Amino acid sequence: MCSIIGYYGLEIAAPVIVKGLKRMEYRGYDSVGVATEANNHIELKKGVGKVAEVNSMVHLDSLPGRMGIGHTRWATHGKVTDKNAHPHSSSSGKIAIVHNGIIENYQELKKELEKEGYTFKSETDSEVIANLLQKNYDVTGDVKDTMMRTISELKGHYAFVAMFDNGQLSAARFHEPLIVGVGLSNFFFSSDVLGFIEYTDDAIYIENGNFAIMSKNEFKILDFNGEAVKYQITKVSKEFADSYKGEYAHFTLKEIYEQNETILKAGERSEDGIIKAADFIKHAKNVYITGSGTSYNSALIAKHIFSKYAKIKVETIMSSELQFSPDIIEPNSILIAISQSGESADVLEAVNTAKNVKCKIISIVNLLTSSLVRESDIAIGMNCGPEIGVAATKSFTSQLAILFKIIEKLSNNMVKVDFEEMSRSISKMLEERNKIKKIANELREISDIYVLGRGIHYPIAIEAALKLKELTYIHAEGIPGGELKHGPLALMDSGVLVIIINPNDSTYLDTLTSAIQIKSRGAKIIGISDVPSETYDYWIEIPKTSDLTYIISEIIPIQLLSYYAALEKNTDPDYPRNLAKSVTVK
Ligand code: AGP
Repeated sequence: MCSIIGYYGLEIAAPVIVKGLKRMEYRGYDSVGVATEANNHIELKKGVGKVAEVNSMVHLDSLPGRMGIGHTRWATHGKVTDKNAHPHSSSSGKIAIVHNGIIENYQELKKELEKEGYTFKSETDSEVIANLLQKNYDVTGDVKDTMMRTISELKGHYAFVAMFDNGQLSAARFHEPLIVGVGLSNFFFSSDVLGFIEYTDDAIYIENGNFAIMSKNEFKILDFNGEAVKYQITKVSKEFADSYKGEYAHFTLKEIYEQNETILKAGERSEDGIIKAADFIKHAKNVYITGSGTSYNSALIAKHIFSKYAKIKVETIMSSELQFSPDIIEPNSILIAISQSGESADVLEAVNTAKNVKCKIISIVNLLTSSLVRESDIAIGMNCGPEIGVAATKSFTSQLAILFKIIEKLSNNMVKVDFEEMSRSISKMLEERNKIKKIANELREISDIYVLGRGIHYPIAIEAALKLKELTYIHAEGIPGGELKHGPLALMDSGVLVIIINPNDSTYLDTLTSAIQIKSRGAKIIGISDVPSETYDYWIEIPKTSDLTYIISEIIPIQLLSYYAALEKNTDPDYPRNLAKSVTVK
């Protein structure tokens, strides 16, 4: 996933664009670039690295002109090099573009264009858009016709912004996010409201299959057939304005620390949706639940609690796997789709597969302006505020809180979840940060970490392992405690660190037995429990609480441990290598 931004207004474009790119950097951050237009001439600067680094090297923000485009890249086609960074200009230099998504037929288009004398400087699929626009503009001399012709030749999912040296900007959306920021004297195209939130909270969400044209005296939105499209300006919720780190060193730490509040706000503005979702689930023939990464781990938790507390069988589906066994979804069922961004391509594809067999879609999503919401019959907002750190933290506990609220409804409030207890327990765990920081030291030389849990704590172990690998780049694996002697015990020796998730519930004694077996093989053990044991080399105490609060409490120390270990390993907690906040391409 990349960030694209376009600007036209009364200010010098380059500094405005650089600021916007910095706020959207979580979407992709291996390279960055800006192009501006001044006196019918396009100038372009770009390079490998994060926005601040490249700006200090090539002074992106010094480019002239009041119109411009910018981009931060998460490489899909072509290595991470200066040449492959965006923007890309046409061979004549009269058009420049920034692009998010994939042009599936770029090789054949590139061959055609090369035959007609257009030259290419990069290995990317995106550069094809620039030369295709140039070819069509050379024929039509008109931006609207040029856009329509070009769009008709592109295959794949994309959003791009094109800047013409005649002082016009145009942007098209096909299955990748594109939003217009409408200020008093500033206009933006952007992948994300964060690109322009400092200038305006008035936004137009471009619909799929539409494109827009902007210049000093016109703004219009058209469909891909060239017909004018009505649009409305909506207010972006102010919560996006607070996506600053504040006094925190990283967004990841800030978002870990917000959880004692966000756990109480989860689903706050979606009460009706929760009630309706429970009703759909209660009367459904089959219930499936899907997600990717952390959101899939929430789905695994859901399977446990729907069965235990509501006696409802839910089948989990890893979104990225559904394409290989689409028939497992029975027609006329319910699919619950969990996604923080609401833009994960795998999740959207799974939803599409389910809708093709007349399933109803319930989504648990943080960005209520996302594609997933538009595909849902019921969308339940996580309401945890923007999550900028690539590692999912507060979105995970907010997803669980919404699942708990659905359980309460399904059980006709027989099950009463104590969210205040959860909030207090999170606060208590956050106070343990200094102890956890010390333990993080231990991870510096470790090459393998195993996280062991039983029952509902096994999905938590998987989520813990994901946090650890994502933030520290150390190999980490979640192990179901009962499977230890069926194989993983062979891995246990003195060089290994094992985190045991062992609250004093029905899994306690079996898990302690596993810990003793592991200890006898020389591994070092961190015990996360409300009960101490001499088996643990390090004990991280969690409060004695109700069962559902245990699964919230136990992930907090692991989020902190992963964050502090990332600092020890000198990785960048907010922007882990090779990853992006939302994987909008397959
Ligand atoms: C989790 O820490 C990762 N950043 C990643 O696995 C993420 O959960 C996954 O890509 C799903 O994202 P989504 O919730 O926005 O769909």
